[in-house]
Amino acid sequence: MIGTALIVYASLTGNTKEITDVLAAEFEKLGVYTVVKEAEDTNPQEILHYDICAVASYTYGNEGNIPDEMLDFYDALPSLDLSGKVYGTLGSGEEFYGYFCKSADDFDAQFQLTEAIRGSEVVKIEGNPDENDVLSIRSFAEQMVKTMETLKSDHVKEFKA
Ligand SMILES: Cc1cc2nc3c(=O)[nH]c(=O)nc-3n(C[C@H](O)[C@H](O)[C@H](O)COP(=O)(O)O)c2cc1C
Repeated sequence: MIGTALIVYASLTGNTKEITDVLAAEFEKLGVYTVVKEAEDTNPQEILHYDICAVASYTYGNEGNIPDEMLDFYDALPSLDLSGKVYGTLGSGEEFYGYFCKSADDFDAQFQLTEAIRGSEVVKIEGNPDENDVLSIRSFAEQMVKTMETLKSDHVKEFKA
């Protein structure tokens, strides 16, 4: 095992859950022990026990809203000091509604307030993941893990110095 990851998600009709399942499998392939949890069952403090936190969300409502069941988790993020942690966000949405995958961008902005390091660009997926999306999720996982490894080796160097 080279590290640990927590994936937090919300999914109403299953698309985001599929993204989460693909991501968990990719992390595991890379040797990262991965735990997947629904946002409403997750205390944001739990992130502190992992090297990586990925958040996957759908977008809802009239103005590209974050799902109600993710709001407590979302609101609590800025009060955490997540320095030394790697984060990344993914979204499922539909172009048709406008505000395409806005929740993923909103979570990205929220993590920026925590000192966590972004490990990958935001991944946005129309509906459920197709073959190309699986490749994007794989690349997301690889970049997250690379960032984690860089952070860990910098930390060792700092410790030895
Ligand atoms: C009422 C409603 C509003 C929506 N608003 C948006 C939106 O603003 N932006 C977006 O990208 N997708 C929007 N969607 C699409 C969903 O985010 C999309 O279907 C997503 O794949 C659902 O994920 P889930 O299967 O994990 O629940 C909306 C869907 C519904 C039913």
